[in-house]
Amino acid sequence: MTTSAPVAFPHVPTPHPTPDAQRAGLLADPGFGRVFTDHVASATWTAELGWHDTGVRASEPLSLHPAAAVLHYAQEIFEGLKAYRQPDGSVALFRPALNAARFARSARRLALPELPEQAFVDAVAGLVRADAAWVPEPPASLYLRPFTVATEAFLGVRAAEEARFLVTASPAGPLFAGRDAGLTLWISEELSRAAPGGTGDAKCGGNYAAGLAAQSLARAHDCDQVLFLDAREHRWLEESGTMNVLLVTADGELVTPPLGTILDGVTRRSVLELVADHGLTAVERPVSVEELRAGCADGSITEVFATGTAAVISPIVAFRSATGAFTVGAGTPGPHTLALRTELLDIQFGRVPDPRGWRVPVALT
Ligand code: COI
Repeated sequence: MTTSAPVAFPHVPTPHPTPDAQRAGLLADPGFGRVFTDHVASATWTAELGWHDTGVRASEPLSLHPAAAVLHYAQEIFEGLKAYRQPDGSVALFRPALNAARFARSARRLALPELPEQAFVDAVAGLVRADAAWVPEPPASLYLRPFTVATEAFLGVRAAEEARFLVTASPAGPLFAGRDAGLTLWISEELSRAAPGGTGDAKCGGNYAAGLAAQSLARAHDCDQVLFLDAREHRWLEESGTMNVLLVTADGELVTPPLGTILDGVTRRSVLELVADHGLTAVERPVSVEELRAGCADGSITEVFATGTAAVISPIVAFRSATGAFTVGAGTPGPHTLALRTELLDIQFGRVPDPRGWRVPVALT
């Protein structure tokens, strides 16, 4: 399903750019996921032609046939990454090759056409270049949402033979605004997100749709998000609705559930690579809800936090469930959580050297 020819994204500027003063007003307090830039990157795929009709062009509403496969069978994948304004005014992406590789894996799982990984990065960079004026100053950033949808109008159930890839961009502040004191998670003891052999490790809209009922329950119990357990035993920690989950132990480990039915998060992976410098040993192993509860009670688990592109590193200070509530440590964000968060943001916003080469500058001209 992959085209081998290079895919270029020529820029055709919108004839109706947002006036400077209006854009400045929007950038002053963008919130999360509500403000969108002037352009999109776009490519069309058909079984016959492969990827074609590519470009960075004006953002406008999509026209889809009512029988488009994505509307009926949820054949869709997406990614999330950010562009960060650097101290010298330039703009950098953070490890976009990891998103490109995951997008290709998700495409294979959802039987969608695979965009070559370099084309993914070029599309994202081309959009950031076109909308560079929309990259906010820190602490906000430009959230980028690449996605592919099955557009073929056909009600039979099979892999669609027409699809569209788009990247839309959204200047964004924090996902959990006003929750710096830490999140409370609702442990979902009945509703699961993913099962072995399913799509839990793909980034597809269906996973998020499947999580919404549990998220509503979380909200109803005054929690910020849900923590999913495994589908078989309802016992083993998986991931939160939009984030990976990690625990710090009193004996110096950073423990996180293994990959398989959870998303291979770019922030999760980066944190696992950073923690040795923080005096912690990274351990990927199953963690039961009993261990979480007992460890928080006896102090052997000292901190819990969540990671994600949108969530960055968010402290988790308490849990609730149908079978009881408990607090992590003193119920305040822990020192390792805060130090890792500072280090990650410093790398992303170019405030410290980047020996690992995680920042990828976007050529703006
Ligand atoms: C991200 O962190 O990029 C995500 O995709 C989570 C989200 C659905 C906001």
